[in-house]
Amino acid sequence: MTARHEQSGLSHGSGSALAHTRQWRPDVVQEVVPADVLDLGPGYIEPALLPVHLLREAYGQALTEYGAAALGYGHDPGALPLRTLLAARAAAADGHPCEPDQVLLTSGTSQALYLLATSLAAPGETVLTEELCYDLGRRIFRDCRLRLGTVTTDAAGMLPDALDHALTRAADADARTAFVYLTPTHHNPTGRTMPTARRRALLEVAARHELLIVEDDAYAELPLTEGRTPPPSLAALAGYRRVIRLCSFSKTLGPGLRLGWLLTDRALAARLVSHGLFVSGGSLNHTTSLAVSTLLSSGAYDRHLTSFRAALRARRDTLVDMLHAAVGDRLEFRTPQGGFFLWLRFLDGDDEPALLARAARAGVRVAAGSRFGTPRETGVRLAYSFNTPASLEQAAQRLTTAWAGSASAHEIGVRS
Ligand SMILES: Cc1ncc(COP(=O)(O)O)c(C=O)c1O
Repeated sequence: MTARHEQSGLSHGSGSALAHTRQWRPDVVQEVVPADVLDLGPGYIEPALLPVHLLREAYGQALTEYGAAALGYGHDPGALPLRTLLAARAAAADGHPCEPDQVLLTSGTSQALYLLATSLAAPGETVLTEELCYDLGRRIFRDCRLRLGTVTTDAAGMLPDALDHALTRAADADARTAFVYLTPTHHNPTGRTMPTARRRALLEVAARHELLIVEDDAYAELPLTEGRTPPPSLAALAGYRRVIRLCSFSKTLGPGLRLGWLLTDRALAARLVSHGLFVSGGSLNHTTSLAVSTLLSSGAYDRHLTSFRAALRARRDTLVDMLHAAVGDRLEFRTPQGGFFLWLRFLDGDDEPALLARAARAGVRVAAGSRFGTPRETGVRLAYSFNTPASLEQAAQRLTTAWAGSASAHEIGVRS
């Protein structure tokens, strides 16, 4: 395989030129596709948008400021400076108080899901999910020998009545539901955001059944549509009672940092941090958490977010505009308000493997909808986060041509 991206001397964010060469290297990063393939499959950040220069400065700053303390075992729940900043950030975004002792630093959402699946659930217990959800979250639960149950959703997200029904049925059968796993904001894979009324209705059902909610908010800091700030988190709406909110720097600063955080009520945070994992190893990602705290406290993180969102917005709009240009009736999508993904629904019952094969022959990789559950119609997820606008334009052209020549021979088209 050849390296897909090789860049040098790029300007980024504040406009400072990078003196080094960055490479997207096989056998170093998770996955590299051949150079001629346009990869709209994974929820990755385009390499040129990863803020290498900011992190170089941040690690230097943390080592200068904290010295040897930056290299010790960290404070079990995570270093207080970062937890203080993250609590204040959550309080400001949601308009609900949040204190540092409600925050626990993690090695990212994947690790947090594993922690919750092994410490708050026992093998054989059930995790309820949306009909479509982050496939690897499901994989982690399955690997922890939990059962998976799905709850019906509509365009606003999980249906409260369907959740109520699933919980009543489980209680009648004496089966324990460990928690419900939801991604209410900028959902992966559908891109949808759950409105406040639906959030409140789900919280009411969960409270009645004393059900714990795990809220995966990996994309919360990436609203892309002017004037469409996401609703408050489920955690804040519930006053943090029986909700664990999972956040991550993977989708804003880079997944290689392996740094995330969870927010919940004090008692549950204290219970989680008493796990041997923390008692043995201390903070789950200490040095990096101090580096990132310097970016938050200096305002560099917010400046980065502003330019990163603008870059993502340009990518989303390019892909959406290109697909809109081929209007017809067979394909439907909604422009996502934020996050990384565009979800396409094929209304004519197209065959998923055939769609993927045609895309692959045209040199475009996409994510099969069936990875994320059982879509009502054939679905495909396109990530706009990992390519330049020019590459996305090219990918959209290739896809519309490839799919227009499908068995059903309809004109490819889009409704939104
Ligand atoms: C909804 C969702 N949760 C979690 C993750 C993984 O998060 P992390 O990199 O923090 O483990 C992803 C990454 O694709 C995701 O889409």
